[in-house]
Amino acid sequence: MNQLPDNSTARVFFALWPTAAEQRRLAAWQKPLLHLCKGRTMRADTLHCTLVFIGNIGQSGLEALQLAAQEVSGRAFELRLDEARYWEHNHIVYAAPKLFPPHLVHLAGALEQRLTAHRFEFDRREYKPHVTLLRNASWTNEPLPSLPPVCWQMRDFALMQSVQRGGQASYRVLARFPLG
Ligand code: 2AM
Repeated sequence: MNQLPDNSTARVFFALWPTAAEQRRLAAWQKPLLHLCKGRTMRADTLHCTLVFIGNIGQSGLEALQLAAQEVSGRAFELRLDEARYWEHNHIVYAAPKLFPPHLVHLAGALEQRLTAHRFEFDRREYKPHVTLLRNASWTNEPLPSLPPVCWQMRDFALMQSVQRGGQASYRVLARFPLG
């Protein structure tokens, strides 16, 4: 993992980060959803599913995070994204699995458990796997139309850094952790 400049912090989170081809297949949902819900599309190469959001952390914290993640033993799984939904509280349109894969539920729980053991602070709300597609969108209570399901083959999870540039986030992989 790269060293951070002295005394600086990085904004980090753990995520499922798919291949570019898998990202593009899901990005195909954005045009019809944008037409209905307006807002702003996330760039295709940033589409991901967060596992645990950590926030700002310094170099020693980053190293401890990596050790905690290495203690997680998860299994590879398929994430089938088959529903587009809207959250009114944050005006996000997102893709989600109708059924949460058991290996994903286990992975998120195991990661939270190891982070807790290493005394990390994070948001402990119920885990809701989602891939943000549009921000600043607007929709009603009606279901969004069905779109062709997209399957992501998850063989690892990643520690990601988020860097804000001109109002848009760009992301950097800091470390990857294989799933057996
Ligand atoms: P979102 O797409 O629903 O906003 C990087 O910001 C990733 O971490 C995004 O996937 C974001 O989810 C998620 N995240 C979760 N909690 C967050 C928080 N408190 N602040 C910023 N991002 C958060």
